[in-house]
Amino acid sequence: MSKLIVDNLDLYYGDFHALKSIDLEIPANGITAFIGPSGCGKSTLLKSLNRMNDLVKDCRITGKVILDDEDIYQDIDINRLRKKVGMVFQKPNPFPMSIYDNIAFGPRTHGIHAKAQLDEIVERSLKQAALWDEVKDRLTKSAMGLSGGQQQRLCIARALAIEPEVLLMDEPTSALDPISTSKIEDLVIALKEKYSIVMVTHNMQQAVRISDKTAFFLMGELVECNQTSQLFSLPQDERTENYITGRFG
Ligand SMILES: Nc1ncnc2c1ncn2[C@@H]1O[C@H](COP(=O)(O)OP(=O)(O)OP(=O)(O)O)[C@@H](O)[C@H]1O
Ligand SMILES: [Mg+2]
Repeated sequence: MSKLIVDNLDLYYGDFHALKSIDLEIPANGITAFIGPSGCGKSTLLKSLNRMNDLVKDCRITGKVILDDEDIYQDIDINRLRKKVGMVFQKPNPFPMSIYDNIAFGPRTHGIHAKAQLDEIVERSLKQAALWDEVKDRLTKSAMGLSGGQQQRLCIARALAIEPEVLLMDEPTSALDPISTSKIEDLVIALKEKYSIVMVTHNMQQAVRISDKTAFFLMGELVECNQTSQLFSLPQDERTENYITGRFG
């Protein structure tokens, strides 16, 4: 079953045609990886899936993004969309406040203020992000004092706190050491039972390790999208083959 359907999406930054006629289905409860060289449009497409490009001046989009039968550009108001679709960025971006308040921020924005309920959400989210044991005794301390890998898991916990259905991750491990990376990979794999996850990665081994489906992009085009094992073992397009075998460019 598809959670998200991208239907003939074109995106322009001013005169620059950044995404060209993209058709793509993102399955529910699985991990979809976006790969491709720098500048090919991975982040642009990821941001199109929760309307982050709305904030970009001169950005124009045509086509549709359907989330559970609703067009996110026509039918869903932005608050409901942001509650259904969470996002984690390349650089950990904790808010300059306590660990607790970072996690409680989203739920509070959505009207939850009872302490017992917030306590429960904070604990659940931090446990889901495999961070609880490391921070449970310092919840009131600043999140800025966490290590990079801990900050990234905090950002994942913050995204999970609002119980989204889709989780968008833009190179979430590129700033992390191998141990933190492996923790986040394990976490993402555990989360895919409940969430539809889309992850941009430059690391093809990572795509192979964790994703079910992989989409390969080149200069704003979706060249090929297939089951990950299929795409890496039997690419259908010569450009995909050149890229994954390192013969690119
Ligand atoms: N706000 C913007 N205004 C104008 N052009 C932009 C903007 N954001 C991105 N672009 C351009 O759109 C193209 C796609 O950018 P995007 O960030 O989506 O690439 P990417 O595949 O995520 O690359 P990377 O792997 O380096 O993160 C690039 O040519 C980029 O310069
Ligand atoms: Mg990018």
